[in-house]
Amino acid sequence: MAAPKISEAHQVKDWLNAAVSVAVLTGAGISAESGIPTFRGDGGLWNNFRAEDLATPEAFARDPKLVWEWYDWRRGLIAAAEPNAGHRALAQLERRSPRFTLITQNVDGLHDRAGSVSVLKLHGDIWTIRCTACERERHDARPRMETLPPRCFCGGLERPGVVWFGEGLPGAVWDEAVSSAREADLFFVIGTSALVHPAAGLVHLAKSEGAKVVEINVAETAVSSTVDLCWRAPAAEALPLLL
Ligand code: OAD
Repeated sequence: MAAPKISEAHQVKDWLNAAVSVAVLTGAGISAESGIPTFRGDGGLWNNFRAEDLATPEAFARDPKLVWEWYDWRRGLIAAAEPNAGHRALAQLERRSPRFTLITQNVDGLHDRAGSVSVLKLHGDIWTIRCTACERERHDARPRMETLPPRCFCGGLERPGVVWFGEGLPGAVWDEAVSSAREADLFFVIGTSALVHPAAGLVHLAKSEGAKVVEINVAETAVSSTVDLCWRAPAAEALPLLL
């Protein structure tokens, strides 16, 4: 992997200094250097597991224990990981920028642990658990659950508080993400294949509303041809150069 180029860092810093409103969309790639597998590409989860068996409401209805075992395994992996320099740099950028919105497709909570204060979680949070009967939500930070599938006080079956394929995104979170993409002068798309919609549509929205769009990714993606600058570098190496 080539080291991040100084010229790209300079260009992006200039745009950052000129921007009043900054928005960032992150995906699994930002957590790759924390040791958390991405979904696609080398070592991607979807190479070894079928989304239809594990990440749909139908899969949960068929076999909640199997779905929970997969999420329990992922919770264990994430709990053992630490936020990396990319997560930490975004937390610092939030503190320095007058208007900064961090939008993530990740459910791992590493942005929170790195110190980001306001995170729009488009696909939910693996540390949130929701009752399928009474809808009660609770935070549960235990890396492994005692009994699978867990049950609510009301007796209902609990599910991971994430968005599965075929489900809608949380409405208020999505609306805020759309507003921030619309008003951004500078929009970063970091560590995502940009194949999953509607999240990926935010990149096109920001661009069409006049933002400069910067992609930070180790590989070409579905939006590389749309953006103003492709920065081919690992997020944990590129982002600290902006501070
Ligand atoms: P993907 O696994 O589709 O894409 C990960 C992206 O990260 C790829 O474009 C890689 O090139 C890039 N990447 C890998 N390592 C990197 C690094 N160190 N620095 C920068 N980039 C790196 O993950 P997402 O795009 O996040 O949804 O996937 C989107 C959604 O699909 C997920 O939220 C999940 C999944 O199915 C649901 O489960 C609903």
